[in-house]
This record gives sequence, C-alpha cells and structure tokens, in this order.
Amino acid sequence: MNLKDEFIQFFKSKNHVQIPSAPLIPENDPSVLFNTAGMQPLIPYLMGKPHPEGKRLCDYQKCVRLTDLDSIGDKTHHTFFEMLGNWSLGDYFKKESIEYSFEFLTQVLHIPLEKLAVTVFAGNDEIPRDEVSASIWQSLGLSPKRIAYLGVEDNFWIAGETGPCGGDTEIFYFRSNDPVPEEFDPKDDRWVEIWNNVFMEFNKDSDGHITELPQKNVDTGMGLERVVAILEGVTDNYATSIWKDVIAKIETISNKPYEGNETSMRIIADHIRTAVFISADYAGIKPSNTDQGYILRRLIRRAIRHAKKLEIPMNSDWILDLAKVIIKEYENYYQEIKDNQEVVLEVLKNESLKFNRTLEKGLKEFTKLINHLDTKVIDKDNAFKLYDTYGFPLELTEEMAQEQGFTVDVAGFKEKFKEHQALSRTASAGKFKGGLASSGEIETKYHTATHLLNAALKVVVGPTVHQKGSNITSERMRFDFSCDHKLTDEEKRNVQELVNKWIIDDIPVTMTTMPKQEAVKSGAEAMFIEKYADIVNVYSIGDISKEICGGPHVKHTGELGKFKIIKEEASSAGVRRIKAILE
Ligand code: ALA
Repeated sequence: MNLKDEFIQFFKSKNHVQIPSAPLIPENDPSVLFNTAGMQPLIPYLMGKPHPEGKRLCDYQKCVRLTDLDSIGDKTHHTFFEMLGNWSLGDYFKKESIEYSFEFLTQVLHIPLEKLAVTVFAGNDEIPRDEVSASIWQSLGLSPKRIAYLGVEDNFWIAGETGPCGGDTEIFYFRSNDPVPEEFDPKDDRWVEIWNNVFMEFNKDSDGHITELPQKNVDTGMGLERVVAILEGVTDNYATSIWKDVIAKIETISNKPYEGNETSMRIIADHIRTAVFISADYAGIKPSNTDQGYILRRLIRRAIRHAKKLEIPMNSDWILDLAKVIIKEYENYYQEIKDNQEVVLEVLKNESLKFNRTLEKGLKEFTKLINHLDTKVIDKDNAFKLYDTYGFPLELTEEMAQEQGFTVDVAGFKEKFKEHQALSRTASAGKFKGGLASSGEIETKYHTATHLLNAALKVVVGPTVHQKGSNITSERMRFDFSCDHKLTDEEKRNVQELVNKWIIDDIPVTMTTMPKQEAVKSGAEAMFIEKYADIVNVYSIGDISKEICGGPHVKHTGELGKFKIIKEEASSAGVRRIKAILE
C-alpha cells in the first residue's frame, strides 16, 4: 500500500472522515493563486462553522507553492506537492493529536523512536510555553533531550497574515547514516521536518491582535514526498518510487542518464507535473500573461528550455509522452486528472508549439547579446525584448544569464513590464506569496448575488444556461456561463431587473446539509459535482435558487444593495462573461 492510502486508512480507523482534495485553484478567493496548505479550504470551519462531514477529517491535498521556484532542481524542492493532513474541528486537542502522529509513525510506518525528535512552542508575552505538548511527548517515551523549545518564528503557524493560527509541534527525522546524536539540535540539517501539528486556538486579525477562537482545533500537515523518501531510504526525493517512471521517461526521451543531468531532469519533471495539475483543474486555466495562466506558461517554458539543454528533439512529442506518464501516476487519486487528460495534452502541445517558434531565435539573440555586452548586466531593455519578442519569462533570462556569469536588471525589467501593462495584476500585488481566504462582508454579498444572477439568467435566457466559473473580489463579481449568443440589451436589462426585484423582496437564504446524491436528486445545482464530499451544504434562496455550495452567504437577499451589470462579453467559445457590482 502506498503512503497516501496508509495515512487515510489510519485516520479513518480513528474515526476521521476523508474529504476530497480541494481544487488547486481556490474558488472565489482572489487573495491566493493556488491552494498552499491542506487547511486553506477549511478556514471557515476552523473559525467555528460546522463542517458537514463532522469534527474529524483527513485528506491528501494538492498544493502549489512558488516561493521556492529558484530552488527547484535540487533534491528536495517541488512546486507542486501533496500534503497529508488530519483535523480536529473543536474535537480532540494536543493529547490525541500527538498520540495519533506518534502511533502512525512508529507503529504503521515503523520509524524507530530513536530517529525522532520534536520542537514545541517556547511561548511569548501572550501565549505560555507549551509544556503540555512536551510532557505528552515524554509520556510516549521521547527523551527530554530530543525536545527543543522554539519561538514564534519556528513554532507558531499561520497561513499568511491573518486568520486561524496557533503554536505547533514539529516532528523531525534523523536522515543520515551517522550515529543519531543523543541531543536534538534543530539547526543540524541531518534532522529533517516531516510533520507539523498545529494547535489552532487563536485568530489573528488585520491589526495583529490575537484572540481565542470559539473552539480548539488541530491542523496537521505531512509532506508526502519527504516521508516517502525517508521510507525508501533515499536522500533525493526524485529517486523515490513517486518519480521513478517520470525520470525513466526523461532518460529515454533525452537518451541520457539521470546521473550527471539531475538538475535539468528534476526541473523538467517538477514543472511538467505542476503544469499537468494546473491545466487539469476544473477552473480551466490556460497559459497566458496573467495570474495562474502566467505561472503555467513560465513552468512549461522553463521545462522546455531545460529539455533543449538535454538535447531532447523539439519537434518530437516528448512533452506529451512525459505528461502521459504523470497522468497515469495520479489519475486514480484525482478525478480531474482523469477527466481532463485531453485538455492537459492540448495545453502542453499548444504552448510548446508557441514557444518553440521563437525559442531558437531567442537563444541566438541571447548569445549575441552577451557576446556584445561590455558589462556583466543584462539591462532592462534587452531583458524586456527577450520577454516581449521571444517569449522568455524573466526567470528564464535570469537563469541563462547566471549560467554565463551575468545578472539581469530585474527591477528595471519589472518597471518596463508594468509600463507595458503586461505585468500580471496579481504579481504586482504580491499574490504569489499566498495568503488567506478572504470572505469579508462584501465578498459574502457577492457570493449570494452570484446565485441570484445564475437563477435570473435561467429565467431570462433559458434553462440551458449553466455556470462555468465565477470569481469574486471586494470590488466586483465575475460570472461565466454557457450561452450561444451575446446577450441583447433587453436580456441584460431583464436579468438586472429580476435580480434587483429578488433583492427588494428580501428573500431568506437558508442552508441545509444532506448527502450529495440526495442534493442532486432534489434539483440542487453544482458546477462540478465530483469535487464535493459525500455530504454537502445546499443553499436555497426561497424557491428561486438551490445550489450545492460552500458558502458563505448573507441571511436575506435584502442585504445586497443594488445589483448592476457593468459588462457582458465573450469568455471563450460558447461561454459568456458578466461583470457586475453591488452598489
Ligand atoms: N498547516 C500546517 C502546515 O502547512 C500544518 O504546515
């Protein structure tokens, strides 16, 4: 059995319900581009909202973190990774949490106690030192010498700036053949962190104030690849069974051994896997120059450049052959990988065709450039030309420059990028760093307005209208729907008037929890039914609308104010897009 299955089976035996991995692209949350931790989709429940599946949950969650982009190519970093997690939502706390982790590691995975050590929170002015966790660890047989107390920097966890948070205890494994030192030194990098148990009992607001949450939660996260590497006794994550077939495929298509070509092979493997997952997401992301689409483009292009370094023939289908190996590896775990294989292959094919058209010329231009420069700096104009004319993302130029002992005027490039309005709005807002789901008052109103708009379109345009996507910021809502024509002015007017009528009627919004099948039978709509857990929340607005939805929503439609359509345009073939605001 593999680690994912073992983990889920173990926590099920401890009365946890498995929830599906949330989508990689968070819905209705413009503050982050990708899900960065297993707890991210659970924030409302950590804050106190009852979860339809109960108080004990577990899952494996797809995550993308881009902060380590520069480190990809080494043995341990990945842009996409899977996090194993278990949660207590106001149920058990430190004792069971630590005991479960200990039992899983030592009894199920058979990791010897002698190879383990932990850190616990040393406390600060507001929160006491966590002697409770330390004594639980000792009661399990861990020597006090293997327990280190660390401060806020290391042992207090929060996703981003605000939201649920708390002290944590991190479990370390001694990954080395050297004799295990009696005393644990967290600075000794032979000790690697494998699992984090966060005791989420606080909430941090935007002023930095810490208050107690209505309930004490547990949020844990274990890095899948790292633990598999440990269990398989290797120090290179890419040498594990997870990557075996992928690396073997790259060896075949490049006709080169892994040894001696590790960096490029790891970059190709990592980036194509992440590209597969981003393009398979039901959000329908395509390579572009903004937001997630820009990340997707950068990953594919950087992988292609490294493929070229390995002399993989560019006119072959190597990228598709590799993607197929990755799809096979994951299709039994993630429904979207199964459903969207064709889409993924098309994205990769189109993007490589596009990039290959200019890559050769771009590389020539680059060589010419560095041969003629009398400084070791590639200025902003040249860096921008490589981007604009030859499609080289900045880090590609930077990486190539670095290989030749040059640097790039990054600040200057970014200025130019902005001037040309090509910079992704989100990149400039620092969104790559990740953050918290924002469901403030205004976003909540937009959520409810989305349901009303969906219902109004069905009345005015016809029952064939289906939601294809939505995106909410505090300034506006965006709604994509299937429709074969541009809405007429009359249709737009009627939709707007109907939504406003429903708002004036001040209809109550109610939520019920039921099994998914029952919800579907009762006529509740859902954009992607497969994505939901077996038990779902159904939001009804009088008898106007009934949708499976995570919420949150207002209590009465009267809270929404005035609804106004500001734009109606094409989104893609057969899909229209409405932008609207609440005044
Ligand atoms: N949310 C915690 C983490 O990401 C478990 O490390």
